[in-house]
Amino acid sequence: MNPSSIPGLDRVLFTEEQIDARIREVAAEITRDYEGKSVKLIGVLKGSVFFLTALARHIEVPVEIDFLGISSFSNRSGAPGLVRIAKDLDDSIEGEDVLLVEDIVDTGFTLRYLLQTLAGRAPNSLSVCTLLDRHSRRIVQTPVKYRCFEIPDRFVVGFGLDHNQLYRNLGYIAVMKPERT
Ligand code: IMP
Ligand code: MG
Repeated sequence: MNPSSIPGLDRVLFTEEQIDARIREVAAEITRDYEGKSVKLIGVLKGSVFFLTALARHIEVPVEIDFLGISSFSNRSGAPGLVRIAKDLDDSIEGEDVLLVEDIVDTGFTLRYLLQTLAGRAPNSLSVCTLLDRHSRRIVQTPVKYRCFEIPDRFVVGFGLDHNQLYRNLGYIAVMKPERT
């Protein structure tokens, strides 16, 4: 969809070409770091699906994928995030090299919960790869090994990220206009 045809969009932050180029770079880093191993990509539904599939296609070591779904009660006012697993992984991760793939790390509450939960299942290694990092809003420090882009403190949509479940299918990432209150 053309950005100018969507009234709520302010401006495009990253074009399809920029996203593709950056994903290839990060996939090359992952390929180097996991040389001689296989990696299990775990996507957090639904936001990370677009990123995970794009990333996976450029990783040149054997890749497995699995997904988990969460319900998140964290909010933009900074109230402590409550998270629970709504759909668990299909398979065990014991002894595996796991890369948790996120769409965005914001306050860090979601990621902290997921890392604690997954670490308890005895993977061989557990790292994080995120499409977007909004470090300025971080409340709990969480280790992010791979990030495609650092973003400003503005609400963004596209490439998996939604606003009321819309705009996940945009090929670019765009900033929303501030909502009038
Ligand atoms: P947090 O790191 O626990 O605060 O939450 C991160 C989650 O909030 C992400 O996985 C997204 O689902 C959602 N989120 C945060 N910022 C944005 C945004 O700018 N656009 C769309 N979703 C967002
Ligand atoms: Mg998410």
